[in-house]
Amino acid sequence: MDSPAPNAAEPSDNVHATHDYPSGGDQSQPSTPAGLTSSSSDTLHLINLTVSFPEFYTRLTKSQQVDSDLSDNDSAIGDPSIYSSTTSARASVFNFVEENGRTYHRFRAGKYDLPNDEREQDRLDLQHQLFLLTLSGELHLAPIKDLPGGLHNVLDFGTGTGIWAIEFANLFPSANVLGTDLSPIQPQFVPPNCHFEVDDAEDSWEFSQKFDYIHGRAMATCFKSHFKVIRSAFGAVRPGGYLELQEFMLPFVSIDDSIKGTSLERWGDLIVKGSHALGKDWTRAPKYKAYMKEAGFEDVVEHRYQWPVGTWARGQRMKLLGMWCREDYLSALQAVTLAVLTRGLGMSVEDIELLLVGVRDDIKSNRVHIYVPIYVVYGRKPTLPV
Ligand SMILES: C[S@@+](CC[C@H](N)C(=O)[O-])C[C@H]1O[C@@H](n2cnc3c(N)ncnc32)[C@H](O)[C@@H]1O
Repeated sequence: MDSPAPNAAEPSDNVHATHDYPSGGDQSQPSTPAGLTSSSSDTLHLINLTVSFPEFYTRLTKSQQVDSDLSDNDSAIGDPSIYSSTTSARASVFNFVEENGRTYHRFRAGKYDLPNDEREQDRLDLQHQLFLLTLSGELHLAPIKDLPGGLHNVLDFGTGTGIWAIEFANLFPSANVLGTDLSPIQPQFVPPNCHFEVDDAEDSWEFSQKFDYIHGRAMATCFKSHFKVIRSAFGAVRPGGYLELQEFMLPFVSIDDSIKGTSLERWGDLIVKGSHALGKDWTRAPKYKAYMKEAGFEDVVEHRYQWPVGTWARGQRMKLLGMWCREDYLSALQAVTLAVLTRGLGMSVEDIELLLVGVRDDIKSNRVHIYVPIYVVYGRKPTLPV
């Protein structure tokens, strides 16, 4: 089901979410997505879960297999100083901004609300595993494996710790993978075909090469206009190349009435209002398909998934997703809420902390049956001019 087409010049990013529910039911009352049923038994045997996903774990460790040659002599390694992850970044961008015991990006300081410290980096790496588990171990869904014209230049904008870019570079050794981000938090030693630059994806895209494939993941909270970024990607991808967006949507969606009257419900309302007050809209993922078509992409495909928050949903796979997702969101909760509700709505830190006590309790209780809607959308740039 397509979301309403956006205005070509500047899409009409309504402040209200246009939820696209998998079963296409009444949108004011979300119906339960396929496979998402609450489980009355919360007694789990999570310890054995990993053995249920042998392929997934094989895939995860593929790029980390042990080389029989244990010396450093490998022509593919070259001089490590050449591919230091941030050679293009000036030293000042490492001077991170400190606030409430967390650090934030210095380049374009204040633009992005989440921290960039080790705790946040661990969270992003956990979230990477969530995406991989969701996509059965795949880094991408766009059909790029045998892309006509080849896969030579790849861009991962808002790359975070660079974990996706690094794994992608290992998987496609002949592709040059560039990761960009406001924060230079990527590791120093990376595959020779992987590079990182500090860049603001909301600036005009001035790359010297066209990309065969552009990827952006978990950027829902980042931009004032996602449509503008999608248009930039359209300009930067070569004809026949693909853009793929892997995204989450906030606030959480409840499959039933269990959210009614909870702190989580209040949190969801406030966080949407707060992000709007800051000129952002975190509910846009359901509109990406329409944005991509509007920008000129063709054969745009959308896949939807759900991450239950907590282990309330039936089935081992859902419980593992739910356990990781709960960890993911609990870890980000305080920083994101403080930033958005103090700056956006002028709320006091004390009031927010009080709210968060209830939100954490709700999340941990497993009694509130909420999930995070996940969207994977990809499309191809036409080979003939549009
Ligand atoms: C939630 S993280 C996702 C990281 C990565 N894509 C992943 O999936 O692991 C969002 C990232 O986008 C970056 N970011 C936010 N606004 C940005 C902008 N305007 N330009 C470039 N990067 C941005 C943040 O610094 C952060 O690393």
